[in-house]
Formats: sequence, C-alpha cells, structure tokens
Amino acid sequence: MAVGILLVGGFGTRLMPLTRHTPKPMLPVAGLPVTQHQLAMARNAGITTVVLATSYLSEVFIPYFGDGSKFGMKLLYAVEKEPLGTGGAIRNAADLLGRDESIVIFNGDVLSSHNLRGQIDFHDKNSADVTLHLTQVDDARAYGCVPMDSNGRVTAFLEKMENPPTNTINAGCYVFSPSVIDEIAPNTVVSIERETFPHLVSSGKKVFGYLDQSYWLDIGTPKALMQGSRDLVSGVADALALRDAKVLSHSPQSVVMDGAKIDTSATISGASAIGPGSIIGAGVHIDGSIIGSDVVIGEGATITDSFIASGTHIEKNSQISGSYCEKGEISLLNL
Ligand code: GDD
Ligand code: MG
Repeated sequence: MAVGILLVGGFGTRLMPLTRHTPKPMLPVAGLPVTQHQLAMARNAGITTVVLATSYLSEVFIPYFGDGSKFGMKLLYAVEKEPLGTGGAIRNAADLLGRDESIVIFNGDVLSSHNLRGQIDFHDKNSADVTLHLTQVDDARAYGCVPMDSNGRVTAFLEKMENPPTNTINAGCYVFSPSVIDEIAPNTVVSIERETFPHLVSSGKKVFGYLDQSYWLDIGTPKALMQGSRDLVSGVADALALRDAKVLSHSPQSVVMDGAKIDTSATISGASAIGPGSIIGAGVHIDGSIIGSDVVIGEGATITDSFIASGTHIEKNSQISGSYCEKGEISLLNL
C-alpha cells in the first residue's frame, strides 16, 4: 500500500482572476473542486491517507475536506508559512507520514486517467527510488522534459527549456520510496524539478519513467480548466469523483449538482456544470460553461464558454460569452 501527498500550495498566477479568492485546487470542474477529482483517483488506486501540502489560501481546504472521512479517506494538512517550493513542500508534508510505505506525490492541478496502480506496481517491480508518470505532448517547452533509456530509466530531468530533446514530459505524479524523501533538505525552499530530480539522476539513484498516455491535462490556465471540466462532464476523462458525489443529473451535455434548481424552459449544453444550490431562471441558455455554487441566473440570460464564480447573481437577459464573472465584476478570458 502507499500514502499520498497532494501539492496544493501554488499561487495559480496563470489562472487569475479565477484564483483571486479561490486557490486553483478548489476551483470547481464538473461541479466539484479539482482536488476532489484527484482524491478520488488516489482512493481508486488504494491510497487512503493523503497529506494536503498547502500554503496559498490554505484556510479554504479544511472546511470542505475536513478529516476526509466523508470521502472514505484520512486527510492531513501541512501548512507552509511561506511557500517552500515543490520539493520543500513534499519534505514538509512527509513529516506527517511514516517512512514505511511508498509515498505518491501529485501536482494539485492535474486531471489524469492514467493507471496509478500500474505505476506503483512498476515502481515496486524495479525496486526504484522514484517513478515518474510521463506522458507525451506536442510542445514540451512548458513542462519538465524527461528523456529515458530503453529500460525506462530516466537519463535527465530538464525543467522548462527552449529546445527540449524529447516530447516525453513529467506528468506531475511521482512514486517515492520513503528513504528518498530524506534527500530533500528540511525547512528549505527546494524545487523538486530543478534541484531534486536532476540531483537524483546524476547521483545514480534509480529514477524510472512510467509512460501512460491516457487522458491527461494540466488545468493551469482558464482555457485548460474549462476544457478539463467539459472533458469530465462529457466522459472524455474519467470522472470517478462524480460517482460518489451528490448529483441531481448527469449526461454528456451537463452535470447538475444536488440542490440546484433549473427552470424547465432553460437549456444546458456543451458539457456545462452547474454547482450546488444554483438557481437557473426561465429561458436561460448555458453552453460550455462552469457555474459555481449558489449562483443565481436571471431569466432570459445567455451564458456561453464562461466561468461564473460561486455566489454571483447574473441580471436577467444578460449576454455573457468567454468571460469570468464574480459578484459585480466581469472580465474577458483568453480562451
Ligand atoms: N505546497 C506547495 N508549496 N505547493 C506548491 C508550491 C509551494 O511552494 N509551488 C508549487 N506548488 C504546487 C502547485 O500548486 C501545483 O499543484 C504543483 O505544485 C506544480 O506547480 P505548477 O506551478 O503548476 O507547475 P507547472 O505546471 O509549471 O509545472 C509542473 O507541472 C508540469 C505538469 O503539469 C512541473 O512539475 C513540470 O515538470 C510538469 O511537467
Ligand atoms: Mg501546473
């Protein structure tokens, strides 16, 4: 068995303004926070103890996720006073865990349908120190580029470079043998990608790559986040978390969470998601959009390819397209 660490402390700068009051792991996709989809994936692979490594807006996680019992898991919280970087966050969170089981680390902004159980088995079979989930993308420049030899052993780790030698990239999910955690200095700002991984590879540690090209998406921009939500609703991505959640209705066109009220003359299409407690008025059209919780949409409004933050009221007959709306504010998104 293994335990988990979820990295949920980044600023989400590229997702502004969506992340002004909500850290990116708490943004709703397909009616549930990104983190909830990731926890469901971890649990599906047999991981039931997870530390949330938080920093930015850390206070919003605990009221929602609590001790994890309502998700059939045990959740612990490690809070960094100042962000420690990905490596420092892992070291800090691991102090809440023992050193007798493998530790699976997840970037907190990734939707993935890869075979996590298969990744852990591959790690064990190789008696590896670290096993990285890898995938392939058309343009590797924005990612960690990871060349391997023919046995799947990683030969270099090249974070965000202009001329990546391969399009095989770090997909942001790592299995660590527990002893390797102590290679990271405690209470220090460390980048796992720029410092720890290159050091482990050059010092001869057994770092393996597990190439699995199932559905994968980093939801780090508004465009990607909207796409991720639509993919979960339409079934392109596995939506394990929706199976256990309180859902009023779900089809490839829409998911409507419990407690929402939709007027019978409203239409919801394009894999839109409607959060719990939202009220959608008569004649409203919603297409390809994310509607947060407790949103009110006045009659006759049309919302297309937009993100409506929780608690927002939209005036009747409004026409909103490609935008972010929060309370009185509206801004165009770069979609
Ligand atoms: N707790 C904590 N503290 N978490 C952090 C910190 C920190 O100081 N800094 C970043 N994180 C979290 C972010 O919230 C995110 O979940 C994860 O670490 C990765 O950070 P990003 O800022 O999203 O990195 P990226 O997308 O540019 O690159 C990373 O992900 C790519 C795959 O999506 C790297 O791991 C790349 O190598 C990888 O290819
Ligand atoms: Mg990211």
